[in-house]
Order: sequence, then structure tokens, then C-alpha cells
Amino acid sequence: MERSEVLKQFKPDHENMLNILHALQNNNSQNYLSEEDLKIAASYLNTTYSHIYGVATYYTMFSLKPRGKYIIRVCNSPVCNMENSTKVIEEIKKNLSIEVGETTDDMRFTLELSECLGKCEEAPGMMINEDVVGNLDNVDFKSIFDNYN
Ligand code: FES
Repeated sequence: MERSEVLKQFKPDHENMLNILHALQNNNSQNYLSEEDLKIAASYLNTTYSHIYGVATYYTMFSLKPRGKYIIRVCNSPVCNMENSTKVIEEIKKNLSIEVGETTDDMRFTLELSECLGKCEEAPGMMINEDVVGNLDNVDFKSIFDNYN
């Protein structure tokens, strides 16, 4: 979708800034906010590039560098941590051959850490884009990741 089409869904109010940035990021095939995205958001909201840049860099949900088609967010909050999220992170790193914050060479997966996903009863857990996947002790990560092409 053209950026202008994305913007049209929102009134050009500052209170819509986060929603606009979210929509632009979701519209970007590489799951990030490009310089062009930030510029067009600034222009639409009649504010400065540096203001938009400051907002985009403040929130961890926004990325200013290209990411994979699927974002894996492993919960690293206390309950998941007590249920061994550290081991989960290590296994995913090994399985995908990337570190936290990195993207696989085929641009399929990016690995990130997250705060509580609201599914503590299924700790340790993660999200793959919008899907919550819990009870990750002793799972076969390869078979999970094979579902995401
Ligand atoms: S602490 Fe991990 S889902 Fe709540």
C-alpha cells in the first residue's frame, strides 16, 4: 500500500502519532520505519523529523533498521525468567544462528526480547508476530519455525 493510503486512515492529529508509526511500520515489507516513513509522518503531522525520530527511537516496538518477516519476541519478564526463558533464548539463538537483535540472512526471522506478554500461566512464552506461543520448555523450535515461511 502507498504510504499516502496508510496515512489517510488517520486524522493528522498528534494523538495519532503512535498509531501512524505502527501502521507505517506494518506496511513496510521489512518491518521497520525507514527514513522516508519518518519524513512522511513528520510532514503529515506538521512536526519536525527530529520529533518523530525521537518518538520512534524511544519505543522499543519500533525499529529503524530492516527486520525479518517474522519478529520473535521472547518474554524475559520475571515469571518467564523463573521458568527458564534464558534457556529458551539460547536455544532459539542456536537454532537460527543469530543473536538477540539480529535477523537471519534470509530475512525470515528477527529475535527480540519482550516484557510480559500477559500469558504468564504458559511461561516461558514468546510471540511470533501476533501469535503467542507458550510452554516452551522442551519444545522443538525447528518444527515451530517451520510453520512460518
Ligand atoms: S512474565 Fe512472561 S508472559 Fe508474563
